[in-house]
Amino acid sequence: LVLVVDFGAQYAQLIARRVREARVYSEIVPHEMPVAEMMAKEPKAIILSGGPSSVYAEGAPSLDPAIFDGDAAVFGMCYGFQLMAQGLGGTVAHTGAREYGRTRVHVGHAGTLLGGVPTEHNVWMSHGDSVTAAPDGFEVLASTTVTPVAAFEHVDRGFAGVQWHPEVLHTEHGQRVLEHFLWDIAGCRQTWTVGNIADEQIERIREQIGEDGRAICGLSGGVDSAVAAAIVQKAIGDRLTCVYVDHGLMRKGETEQIERDFVAATGTRLVVVDAEKQFLEALAGVSDPETKRKIIGREFIRTFEAAEADIIKSAPEGSKVKFLVQGTLYPDVVESGGGAGTSNIKSHHNVGGLPEDLEFELVEPLRTLFKDEVRLVGEQLGLPPEIVWRHPFPGPGLGIRIIGEVTRERLDILREADAIARAELTAAGLDRDIWQFPVVLLADVRSVGVQGDGRTYGHPVVLRPVTSEDAMTADWARVPYDVLERISTRITNEVREVNRVTLDITSKPPGTIEWE
Ligand code: XMP
Repeated sequence: LVLVVDFGAQYAQLIARRVREARVYSEIVPHEMPVAEMMAKEPKAIILSGGPSSVYAEGAPSLDPAIFDGDAAVFGMCYGFQLMAQGLGGTVAHTGAREYGRTRVHVGHAGTLLGGVPTEHNVWMSHGDSVTAAPDGFEVLASTTVTPVAAFEHVDRGFAGVQWHPEVLHTEHGQRVLEHFLWDIAGCRQTWTVGNIADEQIERIREQIGEDGRAICGLSGGVDSAVAAAIVQKAIGDRLTCVYVDHGLMRKGETEQIERDFVAATGTRLVVVDAEKQFLEALAGVSDPETKRKIIGREFIRTFEAAEADIIKSAPEGSKVKFLVQGTLYPDVVESGGGAGTSNIKSHHNVGGLPEDLEFELVEPLRTLFKDEVRLVGEQLGLPPEIVWRHPFPGPGLGIRIIGEVTRERLDILREADAIARAELTAAGLDRDIWQFPVVLLADVRSVGVQGDGRTYGHPVVLRPVTSEDAMTADWARVPYDVLERISTRITNEVREVNRVTLDITSKPPGTIEWE
């Protein structure tokens, strides 16, 4: 186990991921956690992340030097490097020299940490103060034109640090430096592999649910719930029942993928609730986005709960359906301040509360995983690539991609246009370069066109391809013109009601990814 101590920068998650890419398991802990508590987890190594640019800044988080007395190797990055220098008796000074962004470092003595790294290379920096003298016994490994001590190590004590950010993409050889620390200085073994992740989780879930426990899992069609369900299925087999609510707002082919391909790949017992009619009736006459969302959310909970009640009723005599499976990911756990232990939350799931008398214990097989790991596990478990590599899709589905009232006819139009855009994106091999590609139907707008000899008066659709890392911010994706052209030609030829295809070139902010 490697602990990544989060000093409040956005880098901790990235560091934790890079550690896992080096096949070593990592967890993030807040810097406020007492050192004794960190040590109780028996980490093999501790990484001090970046943070504010100066250890002298007002309110800058500090470090309990006891962290250096335990058995764990310690690696400081950026701010963590300065804290380390300061805590071990070196000097950190306001030199007035600041380095931000791409910076050239000179490796004077490679030591263990920088072994095999070119003498001159570019790294990513972000600091105001500099370490001017390394602590006693440390070897200085690298410098820049303004920072005399840019990297150091004390291999016997298992300590090392760099002023730069080895975890970011723009730092050359960053991963190699991290691996030198993990493998060669801290002595971590490379045991974190996708196969092991799945096996460990299956074992853990088997223990949690026990010999005769039963579980329910809501499938959304997305990758998280599908992988969570697949893991639990491996752990407890038929004692898991999955529920898929078909609200009629899914994209073309998605329901079939779940009903047919997911079930074929996993052998999961699946209940599909066909609720299209109910949802469309509830949505009739509604165009306001928030009202649509509320209605869809409400109907979803109702339907899901009714399905749950049926499953509970039909469970074999004497066995209790006590567990609810959720696809919670590690970033959600970190962001909600959790991290430790398993949660045991009363009747609570993604889409709202269950009745008071229904108490579920949560089963969260993905609680320790990042999205990219979830995808790898999904592949390992043999899920179809269309599910594993699916772009995120909002719970309210196409209901919030029709601007105006949602009707069956409009859904069919949008489904056709969306399927064409997706197919062409896939054919161009661009699925994994694009975060999401909503297609939006402007159902209340009409424009004049001409097709063949006749005048048309059809609807426009908007293509909204975006790139993003986490959906918090996004940029419009520069999809090649020829791909856009194919999409436009096919949609206007094949979807009779659509006579115009437009491209949304707004970033987020100020736009959002979805139109509603
Ligand atoms: P926006 O449109 O706010 O979307 O930029 C950010 C991300 O969230 C997704 N999204 C939703 N997901 N239920 C969901 O499960 C929702 O109600 C919902 N609304 C937006 C959106 O697709 C994007 O990935």
